[in-house]
Amino acid sequence: MSAGTWQLGDVTVNRVGFGAMRITANPDRSVAIAVLRRAVELGVNHIDTAAFYASPGGTLRVGEGEKRHANELIREALAPYPDGLVITTKVGPGEDAERGFYNATTAAELREQVEMNLRQLGVDTLDVVNLRIMKKPGDDSITERFGWLAALRDEGLIRQLGVSNVRLDHVEEALAIAPVVCVQNSYSVDLRGDEDELIGFCADRGIAYVPFFAIAGSSREGGATADHSAAIEKIAITHNVTPQQVRLAWTLHHSPNILAIPGTGNPAHLEQNIAAGGLELSAEELASLG
Ligand SMILES: NC(=O)c1ccc[n+]([C@@H]2O[C@H](COP(=O)([O-])OP(=O)(O)OC[C@H]3O[C@@H](n4cnc5c(N)ncnc54)[C@H](OP(=O)(O)O)[C@@H]3O)[C@@H](O)[C@H]2O)c1
Repeated sequence: MSAGTWQLGDVTVNRVGFGAMRITANPDRSVAIAVLRRAVELGVNHIDTAAFYASPGGTLRVGEGEKRHANELIREALAPYPDGLVITTKVGPGEDAERGFYNATTAAELREQVEMNLRQLGVDTLDVVNLRIMKKPGDDSITERFGWLAALRDEGLIRQLGVSNVRLDHVEEALAIAPVVCVQNSYSVDLRGDEDELIGFCADRGIAYVPFFAIAGSSREGGATADHSAAIEKIAITHNVTPQQVRLAWTLHHSPNILAIPGTGNPAHLEQNIAAGGLELSAEELASLG
């Protein structure tokens, strides 16, 4: 793949991966299955998922018909999994009939979520598990929760660990407990927050930085925005690509440790996202994006 590779801990992955949050939206399961298989055919060997990615209901509250879980679609499409495919999942948020949407705060709840991912994906060990937190003002230490996940790793249920929706001090807390292979935060050309220091911190330590909402930008869960800057539009016209491809290419140019996980349930968008890995932006174009 033209965007090259980066380490996800002890595994080398192509920098353009795939985010599975959007594949549950279409009531036609066969589309999701086809998108997942095509992604792998095109060289994707890093897929991001979660047990709570499910429709109807679930994170995006979209779709109709029979319940579709991203993990089960991944298993149906890709098991037995090809060598070298890394499936990264996340725990913290969860959803079930009894609790509705909830946030895991105990060792038992985190174990339950890890076990649910193992069952749904049909594996004995999860490749990478991110602790996804809700940031809170005041004390939002992750030491206890990350420690519980590190214990599950020691038990063999998880190979490698990451963190998501975190600040730099959370990553330092986690690193004091166990190796961190990735940090997954929202980040886009128009949704930068204070992430640059954290991206550099990760790059210096060989930790992958995995932005979500790279295409959606400030419209976040709302999906692809139509609100692009004049600079994005101009670059898209110059290269005869879409503004969404420019957004994705920008993240890949930003730092070598960035792994893209664009989310789509649309086969044509998938092809465009993979192609964006080969889009070369000049220094002048990058400067125009700020
Ligand atoms: N850790 C976390 O808290 C967290 C939070 C959110 C997401 N995530 C992960 O990150 C992944 C990426 O986030 P995301 O899916 O929300 O946002 P995204 O990848 O920035 O954008 C996805 C949106 O853009 C559309 N899209 C994708 N490719 C496109 C293209 N080439 N042209 C036009 N539209 C395109 C998708 O719709 P179509 O389906 O119509 O293409 C969808 O609406 C998720 O799939 C999930 O795995 C993690």
